This record gives sequence, C-alpha cells and structure tokens, in this order.
Amino acid sequence: MMTRMTLDGLAVEAKADERLIDLLLRTGSKVPHVCYHTQLGPIQTCDTCMVEVNGQLVRACATTVSVGMDVAAKSSRADAAQREAFDRILGNHMLYCTVCDNNNGNCTVHNTTKMLAVEHQKIPFKTKPYEADWTNPFYRYDPDQCILCGRCVEACQNVEVNETLSIRWEDAHPRVLWDGGKTIGESSCVSCGHCVTVCPCNALMETSMIGHAGFLTALPKKAMDGMIDVIKGIEPDSGYGAILKVSEAESAMRESRIRRTKTVCTYCGVGCSFDIWTKDRDILKVEPSEGPTNGISTCIKGKFGWDFVNSPDRLTTPLIREGGKFRAASWEEALDLVARRFAEIKERTGPDSLAFISSSKCTNEESYLMQKLARAIVGTNNMDNCSRYCQSPATQGLFRTVGYGGDSGSFKDIENAGLVIIIGSNTAESHPVLATRVKRAHKLRGQKLIVSDLRKHEMAERADLFVHPKPATDVVWLSAVTRYLLENGLANTGFLNQWVNGLEDYQRSLEPFTMEFAAQTCGLTVETMKQIAHMIAEADGVCILWAMGITQHSMGSDASTAISNLLLVTGNYMRTGTGAYPLRGHNNVQGASDHGAMPNFLTGYQSVDDPEVRARFENGWKVKLPSTKGLDNHEMIDAIHQGKLKAMYLFGEEISLVDSNSNLVRDGLSKLEFFVAQDIFFSDTCRFADVVLPASPSLEKEGTFTSTERRIQRLYQVLEPMEGSRPDWQIIQDVANRLGANWHFRHPSEIYREIASLTPLFAGVSYERLEGYKSLQWPVASDGTDQPLLYTKQFAFPDGKARLFPISLSKPTDPTDAEFDLHLNNGRILEHFHEGNLTYRVDGIREKVPDVFVEVSPETAKERGIQSGTWVQLISRYGQVRVRALVTDRVKGKELYMPMNSAESPVNLLTSSHTDRVTHTPAYKEASVRMRVLPEVGESPLPRVNSRFGHPTPQRGVEVERKWKRPDYRIPGSELGRTELKNS
Ligand code: SF4
Ligand code: SF4
Ligand code: SF4
Ligand code: FES
Repeated sequence: MMTRMTLDGLAVEAKADERLIDLLLRTGSKVPHVCYHTQLGPIQTCDTCMVEVNGQLVRACATTVSVGMDVAAKSSRADAAQREAFDRILGNHMLYCTVCDNNNGNCTVHNTTKMLAVEHQKIPFKTKPYEADWTNPFYRYDPDQCILCGRCVEACQNVEVNETLSIRWEDAHPRVLWDGGKTIGESSCVSCGHCVTVCPCNALMETSMIGHAGFLTALPKKAMDGMIDVIKGIEPDSGYGAILKVSEAESAMRESRIRRTKTVCTYCGVGCSFDIWTKDRDILKVEPSEGPTNGISTCIKGKFGWDFVNSPDRLTTPLIREGGKFRAASWEEALDLVARRFAEIKERTGPDSLAFISSSKCTNEESYLMQKLARAIVGTNNMDNCSRYCQSPATQGLFRTVGYGGDSGSFKDIENAGLVIIIGSNTAESHPVLATRVKRAHKLRGQKLIVSDLRKHEMAERADLFVHPKPATDVVWLSAVTRYLLENGLANTGFLNQWVNGLEDYQRSLEPFTMEFAAQTCGLTVETMKQIAHMIAEADGVCILWAMGITQHSMGSDASTAISNLLLVTGNYMRTGTGAYPLRGHNNVQGASDHGAMPNFLTGYQSVDDPEVRARFENGWKVKLPSTKGLDNHEMIDAIHQGKLKAMYLFGEEISLVDSNSNLVRDGLSKLEFFVAQDIFFSDTCRFADVVLPASPSLEKEGTFTSTERRIQRLYQVLEPMEGSRPDWQIIQDVANRLGANWHFRHPSEIYREIASLTPLFAGVSYERLEGYKSLQWPVASDGTDQPLLYTKQFAFPDGKARLFPISLSKPTDPTDAEFDLHLNNGRILEHFHEGNLTYRVDGIREKVPDVFVEVSPETAKERGIQSGTWVQLISRYGQVRVRALVTDRVKGKELYMPMNSAESPVNLLTSSHTDRVTHTPAYKEASVRMRVLPEVGESPLPRVNSRFGHPTPQRGVEVERKWKRPDYRIPGSELGRTELKNS
C-alpha cells in the first residue's frame, strides 16, 4: 500500500507505515540524522533530523508518514533546527579527524559536518570531567568524544539485551555508564561489541584500530595532543571546510592500505557474517552490518576472537614422525608419504581399513572433497564428521517425523513465535546472537519463554517458566505433556487430520507417559507440566530450540523425536513463528553433513545404498562406488581397537579431546598404523599422528559455510595463507591426485558447481547467487528459489505428510550410585570455543577466562568445605581430572558442570563410551563422578573482570524522555519551548 503526500512542494508516494526519515533518505533528501540507525530504530536523542510537517517541527526519525502529509525538509526553519542540533553535538565532540582512527569515510559526525557545510561551531567544545576507560581488552570509551546519541545504549539494552549500558540523563555531565557507573572491565559487559559497532564516531573504538588505522594516529600522546592543538588553532580562521579537506585526503589514502573483506564467522552455527578490516596481516576490526542472520550483531568471539590467525603457534611446515619424534618435511615429501602409505594399506587390507574424518570448521567444498576422496578414490564409506558428537540425534528425530534434518525456519520465525521453549541449550553462551533475538522478542514484544535445563543460566533467569527436570528425563516429560494435550482436547486436530500420519500407533506408545509417572521420573510437579501444556496450547506459534542437553544422551534421538512429535500434535509447523530448531554447534557442522561427510549419505542426504543415487555419482565421478554404510566416528575407534581399521585421515577435528572417553580414544589413535592429522595448530590429536599437515583457517581461504538456519553463505579470502600452510581443499586435492584422482579444481566455486550438479537439494546453489552478503537456505531449486521456511506446502515424505514416531522408554547410562555420587554435566562457555584451540590464543579472552573450572552448587560446597578456587579431583569410572571449583547457584544439589575448554583437564577424560542407541552420539551428558577435595586453594578460576560478576541495569532503552525533562533542554530550531514538540 502506498500513501500520497507532499515533500518540499512535490507530490510523492510513500510506503504505508514508512518512517519519514526513510522516505527522505530514499528520495535523496539530504537530511542529517546522527542517532538514527535503521537496525536500532528511532532513538530521538540528537534532534538533527528536524523537519516541518504541516507547519510543525518534528523529528523525521520518529514520524510515520500519513496520507496528505505536507513535509518541508528544506525550509529555513527546519534547516536552522538541524544546524542548532548538530552544533550541540559538536559541543560534545572535538573534530580532529586527520589524526583520528575513525576517519575512514564512515564517521557519521564527520560526514554530517561535511553535509551541513559547518564552518564554525557556535557552542564551543567542552571536555567532560571523566577519564577514558581502557579496562576492556577489546575496546575503549572516551567520554570527551561521546556525543550522547545513545546508540550504544539502545544496542546493549534492546539488541544484545545484555542491559549493561545506560545514560543517567539527570547528571550534570551525562556520559555512558557501565552497570550504572562501574569500569567496563568490572561490569557485566560481555564484550559482544554491539555498542562499538553502532557508535557513530570515535567515542567507542576497537583497541585494535587505535593507533593503527590512520597514517598519523600512531603518534605518542604528547605529539598527538600537539597535532590536535594545531588543528584546533586553524579552525577559527580557515573554518572546518579546509580542515575536512585535509582529513579527507588522509582518509582516501587509508583506502589504499585497509582492505575490507566479507567473511562468515568460524565459531558457532549461528552464521554471523561481517567485513573484516585488515592492514597487511593485521586485523583492524570486525564490522558487522548487513549479514542476513546477524545485521549489527556479534558475540565476543566473532567480534574480537581472531588473534589466533597470526599466532606464532601456527603450523607452517609439514611434520613427519620419525623415531618417536616429529621432524619438519617438505610438502612434496609429506604428501608423497601420505599417498604411498594409504595406497599400501588399501592394497594390503582393503579400502575399508582406512577411514576419513571431515571438519565442521572447514568449508562445504572441503567436506565434499574429503568424502569424494574416501568414496571415489579410496573406495570406502568410512567417512564421518563431528555432527556425530552432537547433532546426529536431532537430525534423526527430524528425519523420523518431518523428513529433513534441518531447522524448520529462520531466526525471523523464532522471533515471531508467541512462545519459545529452550530445552538443554545454554543459548546465551553457545549461540549468543540467536539468543539476542529471543531476549529481544521477550523483552520488547511480550514473547513467552519456557526453559528446561539443569542449570539456571541466563535464559533460565529470563524465562517466564524455568523447569529443572532430573538429568536425562526430558523424553519423559515431553511425552507426558504431549499425551496430556491429546487427551484434554488441546491438540490441533485439524492439523493432525490434514498433515500427519501415525497418530494411533503414536498414541499407543504414549500409554506409559502419564503425568504421575513423569512427575516421579523427572521430579517436576504435575501442575508444572500442565502449565507447560496450557502455555503451548494457548500460544500463537511455538518454536522449540534444543541442543546438546537433549542430543548427547543415550536417548538423544528419542528426545529429539519427542520434541518434533509435540510440535506436530499442536500444529506448530508450516508457518512462521513455529517449528523445530536444533541449534547446530560449529559454524559448519550442518554443512559438513549436508555435503556428504557421513558414512551413509552422499551429498544432500542421498543414501549410499540407493542404486539410482550411486549411478548418478558413478556417472559423474567415473568410478564404481561402495554401497554399504561405512563406519561412523564411534565405530571407527572400536574398529581400531579390534584391529580392523589401520589408517585414518582427519582434518580440523580435535578428536582426542572432544570424543567421549578420551583415554580409550587416545589409546585407539596410538594404535593406528598410519594417521594423518591436518590442522592449523599442533593440536592434542596431532600428538598421535604420523604425518601432520599445516592447513589454513577460514580467513585464508574461500568457500561456503552452512549455518544452523540451513543458510549457505560465502566467505572471501581475507589474508593470504600463512607461509607454509595451505587451504584444506588444496591439500585434499593434492593427496587425491597422488592416489590417481586427476582433479583440477582451481577454485572452490568449481567444486560447488560439481556439488550442485549431483545434488537435488543444492541444485540452484552457485557462487554468483551467493555473491557478497547474499545467501540461500536449502533446499535450493535449480532456478535459485530457496526455502527460508522449510515446510510450507508439504513435509519431506513421498505423500507430503509428517509422521508421528512412537516413543519407547529407556534408562540413562552411567548413573550415579553410592561411589560416583555426583552428576557431571558439561558443555560450552561464552568466551571460549570448545577446547579453546583458537580462543586461548586471543589474549583478551584469556584475560576473561584463563582456565577451566567445575561449577559446584553452594549446597555441595558447604557440605564438603569447598570455596571458589579450591582444587578438586573428579574421578569417574573412566578417568580423572584435576580442576578448580567455582561455587555458583547456577548448579543445584549434587549436579556439577564443567566447561569443555581445556586441553590439560579435558572433561572427556571423565565421560563414558555409552552412546545414543540410534546414532552413536556419545552420551556425554550422562556422566557420574566422585569428588576428592584437594588441600590446595587457589584464586577463583574466574577473575573479577569476568562479566558474570557484573550487575546489569535493565531499562527500556536510552529513555530519551528523561533527557527532554532536563531543565536545560530546549527543542532546537527556534523560539519553540520544551513542551511544544510532540515527542513520540
Ligand atoms: S555487552 Fe558490552 S560490548 Fe556488548 S553492547 Fe553491552 S557494553 Fe557493549
Ligand atoms: S559512546 Fe554511545 S552515546 Fe557516545 S557517541 Fe558512541 S554510541 Fe553515542
Ligand atoms: S554468535 Fe556464533 S557466529 Fe555469531 S559471532 Fe558469535 S560465535 Fe560467531
Ligand atoms: S536522527 Fe532523529 S533524533 Fe536523531
């Protein structure tokens, strides 16, 4: 719908409900707007966007167009108001652009000065009585440059929703406050960087930029102050115009040496994308702006976690084990050796005595090549990736019920839900940017939130209902709630009749799951479970998000199935605001499986035992393919111990730390006759290798990643591969060619062309369609049409209907008993990614979390005389570790939690070899230990500068009304009084 109105005397058409500022910008009006940011919405602090509407001055950012509106954006009254407002801004900000690291063509204050052709300011610049704050390792705040626009506050309060920032407008000299007035370092700031990203000037800046971006900005402070004085001295005579000309020449020179390259985050499965600014190999900053998933959002890792790329620990030469030691080797020698040994072993003991493990950190193209090497060149389906350790049960649950193993919608759909249920996921730490979308919808839109978890983490704190079932009992309460819904007329019968098969068998399988049985098994009250059922039945759309707290159990597939069953029974599929969202852990764990790094599937989940599929690949690859399912990761370790598996080629995977029962895994790896590990660092796994090949991280190569939303995105090469290392796809191709492959891929785009030609799910994927920030969410038809919402016309079964899958009861493994009396939970932590191979190489992150710890409840701590910092030994049926305790009420009773960020005390020395019965995903979350309290007491393992010790200050946003109430506030632009303008 369009709206007709008048703009500066001309008739224009506006979109219905369009913001006036957007219309003005769209139609080319040069209206200043300093605080307005499209992703933050109107903040209304700067007053620079004043225009006349029907003769009244209004803020264009806070005004919605309406029929017949008469807008004068260029009237002398509007112009005077805009100039006065901007003059006030210059009173808070010293223009020293030539020696400012923010002078890169995108500084809003600089650009507005230029646009308004300001020559002299009327309100003189005044410093504020505060020091700059350098207490965060990644960014600094300079109050003297702060124009009090409040963008940072809005971003922190309502986009990141960490609620650290505020401005106390009533203060004599307002400034941005962290936790109401703490230093940044001692506040609740999680270093997500939202505030820095949206700051329109240099008040908040990445420390990596300071002294590095400009040609003249690395000067010592004294010289810098002198330069600034010189600049200020020129202004009264020559005006800002001349000064800006110099600074713009300097800014233009920067363009020749600062590169801005789009990439996709290498950490979690959220799939944030952003530009990385580099100067030679120096990473100046990460700038998120238009990523389809994240916009301006990042977390600490994506924004600040890249120092590992230039770490002196990078592997830069192949290594060959000789006489029990590694020696450096040339690429030729190492690759020849790998090919020779693989060929010998294949010849002697057959192709199935070799196995291949792909990396969920690497690209889709690299996973594709690895499985092609395994299948087409070596001739085995012994091919897997680390989704076996986390996601396979979720995929299985979805295969059983709805057909595709992927999230059923996008983050937008989660934002639109009336109710979000998070089960077994510490979303705010493991998928931080996705969590921001849920927190925002909950805070601003009244979305309801139920959290089921063993720990009272941030999402649990925020939930409308937090439940804490006994460990490993989710399948029971989920099924009991579903049974209750069916029996009490709360199911969506219309949806069931039209779209779902198998109701009768499924309902029969629910017989044991009475409310009373569930209450006894799970430790939840019947009332609580009924409350959950009614909240689901009453919600306008339900999305269920789950992660390792569900999947890493002996019944992980069944629990995932139970979730999908519940959604089907209540009709929560096939529209926005509904669906199943298994949150993928690694940046490309979805893509690795999608692209055939699995023992039973070729690309796009095409079965290896389907003759038609095999014929297509055999035709494309000109080889004969093996037809029976290969070994998965778990079976590979067993096969090594049984003497059946002799050789392994693994890249980008820390199997010796992240597979469960590490002692058994390490023992297995050391028994391999020939083991090739390919990585960017000498990982723990490399210790067991015969050949180590130095690879390149994501910033040094091109390719695609697929995020948890099934979103395929391109990453561009930011840096040249570090000398001596090579991109994984090139290494795999080199190995394959030495084994007779004759591959000639010159660029990953050529690899993708082949993938698309063989895979209906990706038929329309091409690098052209993924140019820049464009993305595609599979399935992608050959004409390029993708499916952000996965099920709209049908489910992915031949008859188009979903299937309710019967659930059976089972008991968890590795239970607690008199000897192993504590339940051990484990998982991620915000700051570190997994075992920390990358993030421990970022000094700022180490400062926040230097080491691993075990969370102990206050009850257990009191009972056993433990305080934060007490060393304890945890002993399980499989191994032991020594670790410091952190006493926290996030855990309860006899439940412990240990993050997995340690190579020295890895939690998987304690976990068992029990697995999910269907997928062989280790039951990491079913672990029992006893604890020996050691006499040593050290420092608390979490330093005071960790955000967990902060005290956020939630408020509605920047709360500009409080600024308007200041006695010295007057609406700019004339004689108008404080109350005359209708503030919206
Ligand atoms: S949490 Fe910290 S880094 Fe993130 S927006 Fe808030 S103040 Fe800025
Ligand atoms: S620090 Fe915050 S309030 Fe100050 S200029 Fe930057 S975004 Fe605006
Ligand atoms: S949320 Fe995940 S993808 Fe986004 S910046 Fe953080 S680690 Fe990277
Ligand atoms: S842009 Fe409208 S008040 Fe700042």
